[in-house]
Amino acid sequence: MDPDRNILLVGCGNMGSALLRGWLAQGIGARQLHVIDGQDGVIEQTRSLGVEASSSLAADIAQPDVIVFAVKPQQLDTLVPQFADLAARGAVVLSVAAGKPIAAYERLLGGAPMIVRAMPNTPAAIRRGITALVANSAVGSEQKVLCERLLSAVGDVVWLDDESLMDAVTAISGSGPAYVFLLIETLAAAAQREGLTADLASKLALATVAGAGAYAAQSPIEPGRLREQVTSPGGTTQAALEVLMGEGGLETLVRKAVRAAAARSRELG
Ligand SMILES: NC(=O)c1ccc[n+]([C@@H]2O[C@H](COP(=O)([O-])OP(=O)(O)OC[C@H]3O[C@@H](n4cnc5c(N)ncnc54)[C@H](OP(=O)(O)O)[C@@H]3O)[C@@H](O)[C@H]2O)c1
Repeated sequence: MDPDRNILLVGCGNMGSALLRGWLAQGIGARQLHVIDGQDGVIEQTRSLGVEASSSLAADIAQPDVIVFAVKPQQLDTLVPQFADLAARGAVVLSVAAGKPIAAYERLLGGAPMIVRAMPNTPAAIRRGITALVANSAVGSEQKVLCERLLSAVGDVVWLDDESLMDAVTAISGSGPAYVFLLIETLAAAAQREGLTADLASKLALATVAGAGAYAAQSPIEPGRLREQVTSPGGTTQAALEVLMGEGGLETLVRKAVRAAAARSRELG
C-alpha cells in the first residue's frame, strides 16, 4: 500500500476490527490509519495498536483517501452526511453495511461522490472471508484497486458490475455462514440421537464440516465429483444421500432458503 494513503475507519466493532487487524497484518502503517468509534474501550484498544482513534470526526483530521463505514446500517443516515466534505475533497466511500444501496449514500452525501458498496462475511474475522464489491460510475480504477486491497486483507474479493446482484450475493455468501453453522448443529444433534455423547457429537460434526470445506477449497476436483468419489454404490453414504437428495431434501430446502434470503434482501434495500 502506498504509504501516502490515508484510511479513515468509521465503526470498529466485529467487522471494523477484523479489517483493522487485517490491514496491520498486511503491513499498512498504523500512521496511515485513523479510527472513529463511539466506544471508549474500542478507542483505547485501537490506540494501544499505535493507531489514532477518536469518538467523533475532528475538524483537523487529515484528508483520507478512503472512508470505510463499518457501522450498523441504521446508523448511516445520521452519520454519513457528516463526511460529505471529506468525500467532496476526493475520498472514496467504502461501506460494508448490509443492505444499503449506493443511491442512499449518493443522496446522503450530495454532489457526485465515489461510492463502493461491499458485502463481506463473518469468516473475515479469521481472514477467510469473501467480499463482493460494486462501485458507482464516479469510482476510477485507482480507487477500485485501493478498495480491493483493503478488503483482500480479510479474504477473497469479487467485483460485481450490477448492484442488483447484491441481493443474491447476500443470500449466498453474506448469510451463508449461518447455513453452515446450522449444518454443524444439525449434524451434531443427529449424532447424539445415534447415541454419541454431546462432546463427541460436536467434535465430529465441526471437524467434518471444517475439514470437508477446506478439502473442497484446496482440491482441483469440483465438489460434485468429490461427493461421487466418497459414495460407494450400496454403501452408507449413498443411503444418506438418497434422503438428502430426494424429494423435499437438501437441494429443495437450500433453493427455498436462498430465495427467501434474496427476497428479504430486496425488501430491506
Ligand atoms: N459482522 C459481520 O460478519 C458482517 C458481515 C457483513 C456485513 N457486516 C456489516 O458491517 C457493519 C458493522 O457490523 P458489526 O457486526 O461490525 O457491528 P458492530 O460490532 O456493532 O460494530 C459497529 C461499531 O460502530 C460503532 N458506531 C456506531 N455508531 C457510531 C458513530 N456514530 N460513530 C462512530 N462509531 C459508531 C459502534 O459503537 P456503539 O456500539 O457504541 O454503537 C460499534 O463499535 C454492519 O453494517 C453490517 O451490516 C457485518
